[in-house]
Amino acid sequence: MNAGEQGAPPGTEDALELVFAPLDQVGPGSDATTLAALAELQPIPSGGAIYDLGCGPGRQTLALARELGRPITAVDVNRTFLDRLIVRAEALGLGEAVAVREASMVALDAAPDSIDLIWSEGAVYIVGVEAALRHWWPLLRPGGCVAFTELVWLTDSPPEPAAQFWRYAYPGMTGVVDTQLACVRQGYEVVATRSLPAEDWQEGYYQPLSRRIETLRPRAADWPELTAVLAEIDDEMAVFNAHHGSFAYVFFLLRKPA
Ligand SMILES: C[S@@+](CC[C@H](N)C(=O)[O-])C[C@H]1O[C@@H](n2cnc3c(N)ncnc32)[C@H](O)[C@@H]1O
Repeated sequence: MNAGEQGAPPGTEDALELVFAPLDQVGPGSDATTLAALAELQPIPSGGAIYDLGCGPGRQTLALARELGRPITAVDVNRTFLDRLIVRAEALGLGEAVAVREASMVALDAAPDSIDLIWSEGAVYIVGVEAALRHWWPLLRPGGCVAFTELVWLTDSPPEPAAQFWRYAYPGMTGVVDTQLACVRQGYEVVATRSLPAEDWQEGYYQPLSRRIETLRPRAADWPELTAVLAEIDDEMAVFNAHHGSFAYVFFLLRKPA
């Protein structure tokens, strides 16, 4: 994407797009953890639809489609990611299995009682856990499942640099128990939780992201918004390296009672 190379001065949205558009995943995660979470959630009912919400470029969409052998609808508000996912799915022979839809995860046009499984990695925080769970409830069939990852504190007294960074980057961040309680308040049974290991941040996400931002640093010299985006990523990685024991991405695996 040639964000901002012509016309109006490039802004923060263009800078974000420039950084993230070529990556194969845009948040912590791995196929191994996705599939381990899926196994823990079984049995998934059959006969209904499967959605991956906030799919990004679709790393987990492809893993799920391959594993389940069922059609999956991948939803995102970002067209660039959806177009890349189509190309990736076709390259893997999964073009028939993966459909994409440009929409918000809280404005799905699915019919009531039509969904067997809703998956969402690293995206629910954007709309809020309870708002998402509330919207999905009538769309899920009884016995239907939800799996989402959420960034949570693992301690009540996090180190100040981590607290300061995430207060700014994710003001709504809470703990594992708070998030479980939010799920229960919305009527769901919490089947299990599972923390993503540190490698899911480093290998799948931060290492390719670091290589990407090194190629972009020269362009940041006269692009203040890109400078700010790169600085925030640098800060996040520094906080992760120093303090990742105090926070984690956690899978919340839920079932709508039958
Ligand atoms: C941190 S990324 C995670 C993407 C992917 N699941 C992954 O782990 O690589 C969050 C994604 O949510 C998408 N997004 C933001 N707001 C959304 C919304 N309201 N509905 C659906 N997707 C949304 C973004 O475009 C982005 O692709």
